[in-house]
Amino acid sequence: MITVLGASGNTGGRVVERLCAEGERVRAVGRDADRLAAAVAQGAEPVVGDARDPEFLRVAFDGADAAYVLMPMDVAAAGYAGQQAAVGTAIAGALAATAVPRVVALSSLGADVPGGPDLEATGYLGTLHDQEGRLRTLDAAVTLLRPGMFLESFLFAVDAMRGHGVHADSIDPQVSLPMVATRDVGDVAAEELRRTGPQGVVVREVLGAADVTVPDVVAALGPALGLPDLTYVRVPDEEMVGVLREAGMPADGARLHVAMNRAFNEGRVASLAGRGAENSTPTTVGDWVATLTAVAR
Ligand SMILES: NC(=O)c1ccc[n+]([C@@H]2O[C@H](COP(=O)([O-])OP(=O)(O)OC[C@H]3O[C@@H](n4cnc5c(N)ncnc54)[C@H](OP(=O)(O)O)[C@@H]3O)[C@@H](O)[C@H]2O)c1
Repeated sequence: MITVLGASGNTGGRVVERLCAEGERVRAVGRDADRLAAAVAQGAEPVVGDARDPEFLRVAFDGADAAYVLMPMDVAAAGYAGQQAAVGTAIAGALAATAVPRVVALSSLGADVPGGPDLEATGYLGTLHDQEGRLRTLDAAVTLLRPGMFLESFLFAVDAMRGHGVHADSIDPQVSLPMVATRDVGDVAAEELRRTGPQGVVVREVLGAADVTVPDVVAALGPALGLPDLTYVRVPDEEMVGVLREAGMPADGARLHVAMNRAFNEGRVASLAGRGAENSTPTTVGDWVATLTAVAR
């Protein structure tokens, strides 16, 4: 039996789909029974509760042969670092207490870099560095998945794109980044969960089909959204904090978003292995956009 955290989300939803299709018994974890309906329809057992609750997690992991774990982001949390440390400690502690023998954890490119004071080095990603450290202490076979930027992260900005006719962010338009569709991440995670292997830690990068720029994605996404003239506007860092604050993001979240983008711009979020067949995945930006057309218009 395999426990999947974030089973109603991007990657966890795909993990459930793949595992159920392959005949695995799956426990699908999330906070809301309705949002787990798709997982249940595929044959998973729903387990409803909050990952910040160590007791709940022990029940969710109890008896599992393997677990897919991720750090649910709460960008609205005041004190993001403290909130992530609490949930990360709860997850690692429950995995240790229940002795789950195989753990596949969603991390990120850039998680090799310590966050440093106030997480200024890599913004949000600094908390994933810390979580990798907690998971490395487990007496288990642990795979740390390090994907590039999710293409789905552009979807958070669709309302603003429609409102302003541009996509605005602080990433350098000239910088090419590994960007990946979350279905590819879920596929790799499902493969890792079913793999047998020795104790110890394996790091696996998941880089998507190619390195692309933000304008590349915007050029493909605009027409799919019915915005054929959509362009990308780079906003200076301090101004971008203000844009995000105006859009309702708390100060801490806005600062961490811009710090993460600065890390992209300055090359701190990068593949350590270099792109190759083993860390590239199939879905191109064009393929990904094609899957959106029906729902996004
Ligand atoms: N965006 C990027 O470019 C990027 C790149 C690399 C890595 N990452 C990492 O990817 C992770 C997010 O993965 P994702 O996109 O697959 O997830 P997602 O789509 O954001 O979904 C989050 C999942 O976690 C559940 N969840 C949220 N808060 C929870 C809580 N307190 N207790 C229990 N479940 C909770 C949600 O379900 P309910 O709301 O129904 O509970 C949902 O199933 C983050 O850790 C992020 O750092 C992101």
